[in-house]
Parts: sequence; C-alpha cells; structure tokens
Amino acid sequence: MRYRKLCGEEVSILGFGAMRFPILDKNQKLIDVEKTEEMFDYAIEHGVNYIDTAYPYHGGESEIFVGNYLKERGLRDKIILTTKLPAWLIKEEADFDKYFTEQLEKLQTDYFDFYLLHSLNAKSWQNIKDLGVLEWCEKMKARGKIKHIGFSFHDSYSVFKKIVDAYDKWEFCQLQYNYMDLEFQAGEKGFRYALKNNLEVIVMEPLRGGQLAKTPPLEIDKLWQKFPEERSYADGALQWLWNKKEVPILLSGMTTLQHVKENIESANRAEIGIFSMEELDLFKTIRTAYLKRSPFFCTTCKYCEPCPHGVAISTVLGFYMMNIMYDDLDKSRMFYNSFLREENRADKCNECGECLVKCPQQIEIIKWLKESHKVLKKDK
Ligand SMILES: NC(=O)c1ccc[n+]([C@@H]2O[C@H](COP(=O)([O-])OP(=O)(O)OC[C@H]3O[C@@H](n4cnc5c(N)ncnc54)[C@H](OP(=O)(O)O)[C@@H]3O)[C@@H](O)[C@H]2O)c1
Repeated sequence: MRYRKLCGEEVSILGFGAMRFPILDKNQKLIDVEKTEEMFDYAIEHGVNYIDTAYPYHGGESEIFVGNYLKERGLRDKIILTTKLPAWLIKEEADFDKYFTEQLEKLQTDYFDFYLLHSLNAKSWQNIKDLGVLEWCEKMKARGKIKHIGFSFHDSYSVFKKIVDAYDKWEFCQLQYNYMDLEFQAGEKGFRYALKNNLEVIVMEPLRGGQLAKTPPLEIDKLWQKFPEERSYADGALQWLWNKKEVPILLSGMTTLQHVKENIESANRAEIGIFSMEELDLFKTIRTAYLKRSPFFCTTCKYCEPCPHGVAISTVLGFYMMNIMYDDLDKSRMFYNSFLREENRADKCNECGECLVKCPQQIEIIKWLKESHKVLKKDK
C-alpha cells in the first residue's frame, strides 16, 4: 500500500467506502457480514487504514457493522475512522448532540478521526449554519471528540464556494471527482478552490459509482485501446486520480473481494505523475467522446432553478445524460423514480419557459424534460 498525508495523518491512498457492501435478499439493511468481514480483513491486512461510513449507509447498518468489526478485531486505534452528520435530519440545535452520541455508540468509539457535515447543499447548509453547527464543531474538537472537521458536498460550484468562504477552519472537504466530473457539482473549479483555501480534498465516487468501471460504448472502448499499457477501466480511472499530487486519498465503494483485491493492486502501482501528457490527453478525448453522446451538456450550475412549478431541472437532466452517456438506463431510471419526489419530476413542467432564458448552455430545457420523463418514468 502507498500512503500520503491528509491533515497531518498518514492515510492509505485507497480508503474503504462503507456504502456498497454486499447484501442479502436485495435488502440494503441486510449486510452480508461474512463476506464484508472477509473484504475488510483483506483490505486492512494489505494496508488500508481509512474507513468512511455515514449515518444513512445501508439504512443505518453500516455504522453498526463497522463498529462491531473494529471492536471484535481490536482495531479502533489502528484505523482512521470517518463518519458524517446527517445534515438533512437536523431540525434543532439539540439534534447535533443527539445524532453524534448515537453515532459514537453505534461505532463503539469515543472519538472520530474525521467528521463531515454530510452531503451539504444550499438548503441543508443554511439550516445547520443558522443552528450553530460551526460553534458545535469547535466545541467537539476542543473536547477531543473530533480530530478533523470538514464536509461533503452535492450542489453547484457557487454553493460550494459559499460554504468554503463561510469558515476559515475547514480542514478538508469530500468531493465527487473523477476524469468525467470536471464540470459536475463542485467540479474541477471547486477542487482548485478548495486547495487554494487550504482545504485538502478527499475524493469520493472515483468510478462514478461504478459507471467508469463498466465496458464503455464501442467508440470509447476504441480510445481505451490507444493507451500504451493495457489496464482495466477501473484501474485507469483510479490512476488518473492518484496521478495528481493534490489527491491524498480516494474512497472506493467496493462490493466484492475481487474489487478489493484489484483496487489494492492498483494502489500498489500508483504514482504521482505516472501518466505522460499524451495519456492525459487521451483521458480528455475519452471524456469528450462520452459528452458527445449526449445531445446537451448540463453542468448542474442550477441557474435555471428554482422552477416555479417545482421541477428539479438539473437533477432530471443529469439522470437523462447519465443514461445516454454511460448506457445505464437501469440506474438512471432507478435514480429518477427513487430519488426524486413526484412533485419534482419532469412531467410537472408547464412549459412557462422561465428556465430557458437563464440557462448559460442554452439547453432546450422544455424539450429535454419531456424526453427525460418519457424515457425515465417508472412504467416504461
Ligand atoms: N459524503 C457523500 O456525500 C458521499 C457520497 C457518495 C459516496 N461517498 C463515499 O465515497 C465512497 C466511494 O463512492 P462510491 O461508492 O460511489 O465509489 P466508486 O468507486 O465510484 O463506485 C463504487 C462501485 O464501483 C464498482 N467498482 C469498484 N471497484 C471496482 C473494480 N475494481 N472493478 C469494477 N468495478 C468496481 C462497484 O460497482 P458494481 O458493484 O456496480 O460493480 C462499486 O459498487 C462511498 O462508498 C462512500 O463511503 C460519500
């Protein structure tokens, strides 16, 4: 395993994301404990020393599994343990302590190495900020309950910038970042802005939740063949990140022992500057080829929102693009029907056109919302 410095800690460059464990009976709450223990044992024996869990993962069972595992193996103090405050559940100031205490109990520890305000967006950030989350974080740090404080993020770059600017003691942030998502959410601009403001960046979704590990469409597969070294799609995506000196760690949500073995093997070969300029250009060409598959490019800047009729425009367009670009209709449909409330889906568009004048990409939003609903709605 290779190690890099993150907020002064020596972390394995591959962190174990505790969000995609193998499960039983297709039930997210039923973690396959035997298989997951085997995966953790292998990862830790091979040098992984960072675990990233969160309150909602596996319906609340991820934290319990991780807590039991570390306790049974006597590993708590050998592992850098991370969990996150469920920002969207906070209704009043007392909730900070309530969830934190519950998390300490579930994880059977009395401190967290890294603690994140989870999945911040404009709304959840404003709410917890007003309720005094930053003062609460400082109190917890002073008491030794949290060693390093940061946040993870899912909104537009402008919101990201606002959150970074709001506090000069952030130590790190966790961003969705990979060779495709350079203009998605915080994107490359957010990555650079964080570094400029002395936040270290923990990378999440390095494989876009698995989409960059699948065999790509034919025209893109042909581009992969141009790399001088043969490598798997997953390895290429992970190396693209480790190639950067600014990436101390990436989190991988591994679901099988095979994933763990392969990603550790990749990590063992990782080096800063491993790719030549020609190879980096090839990644750019691959990205362009993916983008070309979509008839429009929504960067989720959200200038078009709020929609007066409640449509979550950029989210809908993002799911539609995901299907077209990555040939992933099942996942796009699942996201559309599970993560979007009915009142925010594309069929609520009444064609008022308010969004059209605001879109910097000049996307024909009304047309593509209609198409998105046709393709992604449940009964298709
Ligand atoms: N804080 C936040 O807001 C937030 C949000 C998202 C994620 N996270 C954290 O970041 C972690 C990483 O995100 P992620 O789970 O989306 O990571 P990811 O690495 O982008 O995707 C994980 C998926 O990639 C596939 N995969 C992994 N290794 C592979 C390999 N060697 N070969 C082929 N496929 C492979 C698997 O998909 P298949 O099973 O489909 O093959 C796996 O479920 C999460 O586990 C979580 O801890 C945090």
